[in-house]
Amino acid sequence: MKIAILTSGGDAPGMNALIINLINYAFDKKYEVYLIEDGYKGLAENNFYKVNNPYEYSKYLFDSGSFIYCSRYPKWKENWKIGLDNLINNGIDCLIVIGGNGSYKGVQLLSKYIKTIFIPGTIDNDVDFSDYCIGFASAISEVVTQSKKIISTFKTHKNIVILEVMGRHCSDLTNEAAKALNPSLVINHENKLSIDEILQKIINYYQNNKFAFILLAEHTLNQEQIKEIINSLETKLDCSPRFSVLGYSQRGANVDPFDLSMANKMSEHAIKLIEKNDLNKAIHVQNNNLISSKYDDLEGK
Ligand code: F6P
Repeated sequence: MKIAILTSGGDAPGMNALIINLINYAFDKKYEVYLIEDGYKGLAENNFYKVNNPYEYSKYLFDSGSFIYCSRYPKWKENWKIGLDNLINNGIDCLIVIGGNGSYKGVQLLSKYIKTIFIPGTIDNDVDFSDYCIGFASAISEVVTQSKKIISTFKTHKNIVILEVMGRHCSDLTNEAAKALNPSLVINHENKLSIDEILQKIINYYQNNKFAFILLAEHTLNQEQIKEIINSLETKLDCSPRFSVLGYSQRGANVDPFDLSMANKMSEHAIKLIEKNDLNKAIHVQNNNLISSKYDDLEGK
């Protein structure tokens, strides 16, 4: 049995732990393991190498990022057949793809022609059919840790900060961090507020607390709207509000122990599926259970 692994899209803390656990469980079964660098781009460019010594990579276990690299590869829609040929020519029996929503769509192009497994790994937690994606706990921890520091200095200056959190078009990271931080206001995709409503809420909070901390989910407001809010607050209140972007530290966050343990469980599950030849499945979390479903059964979920 020859398996290949790639990581795709934005990296997520815990991807390395997934790769290393997959290698270890696969070697226990005497499978051959190939690593594909640069995600789908590397697959289209035949960027494969064989794992000869599994211990060589164990040093990356606790590191964020992916030692086999990630890429965004919009050309995958045109080039997936080249990737498929590369898998076939390298004699691969099963491809394991680790990534988010976009990467899931990418693996479905291949799955009619070759056996695959999908494992959700993204800080955005945007894989619709999974309650949990690897990297999410680590990113939450980073948002909370950084926010506490930002809150401290803004409280001291009796000032207002609007802090943008990653997540692309999914507010999970913002919403989950908000549960820990009790911000003055959460601006997310679910609760669409007008600029006037946002201003009113912030002004009320500021007048009572002489401080405000607002969590803003990425892509809910555009730059013009953010500027408008900051400028109006500045004219209406006696402070100098700031907009701040938390940024890429969320993706490069320290790997949370929960992600380390989930990476181990998901890897074990994946290798068991291969052993049973129960493939073209996505591993996912549903009501706190780690399960797997055929891609066809996940349509529309
Ligand atoms: O998908 C992970 C993510 O960090 C999103 O939260 C964010 O919108 C996007 O990637 C940023 O991507 P890029 O690396 O292209 O700036």
